[in-house]
Amino acid sequence: MIYQIFPSLVYKENLISEMKDFDISKLEQFEKKEGFSVDSYVLNHKDILILKNIFLRHIDIYTKDILEIEKSVEFYITRSWITEAKEGKFTPTIHTHENAFFTGVLYFNVEEEVDSIVFLRTKPHQYLSCGFEKVNQFNQEAVTFHPKKWDFIIFDSAVPHHMGPIISKKTRNSLVMEFFARGTFGKCNAGNAYNVGELILR
Ligand SMILES: [Fe+2]
Repeated sequence: MIYQIFPSLVYKENLISEMKDFDISKLEQFEKKEGFSVDSYVLNHKDILILKNIFLRHIDIYTKDILEIEKSVEFYITRSWITEAKEGKFTPTIHTHENAFFTGVLYFNVEEEVDSIVFLRTKPHQYLSCGFEKVNQFNQEAVTFHPKKWDFIIFDSAVPHHMGPIISKKTRNSLVMEFFARGTFGKCNAGNAYNVGELILR
């Protein structure tokens, strides 16, 4: 018997039904500098504010239905920005998202099957590491997703990741958002141990 413990989750849904009547130029209008929109709170813009409700519905499924986080905690969107990657003009870097619990990405201009996002396994430093005869779900150190247009993904902000190589002539655009939380944390904790005390964030 093999047990897989503490899995890392990537949530992916295609939002074509929600986005089919949405004017994509409203997402393309933002001024960019070096691959990112100058505005880091684009979802507060009146033209696309309506999209927030769609993303909040999905973060609710991810946090409440799948992770079963206590109902006294509410997730909301903090920062949000547009990325623009063009061949030869953008160097993807490995990163995590600080000051956030979860990260969401909506892909609205992609070369399907080519553009990608790569998630990396978090490992402490190893002085010696062995190779593997064959990659499988237990030893894999990187996982690549090729998003389709209107794919929306959510993942834990602590998971290292990077944009895959930009090898298409087509400009790749995504809308990135970060989720933070407010409410009562640790409501389920029993006992009076001070180190697991209830915390209220408003
Ligand atoms: Fe990222």
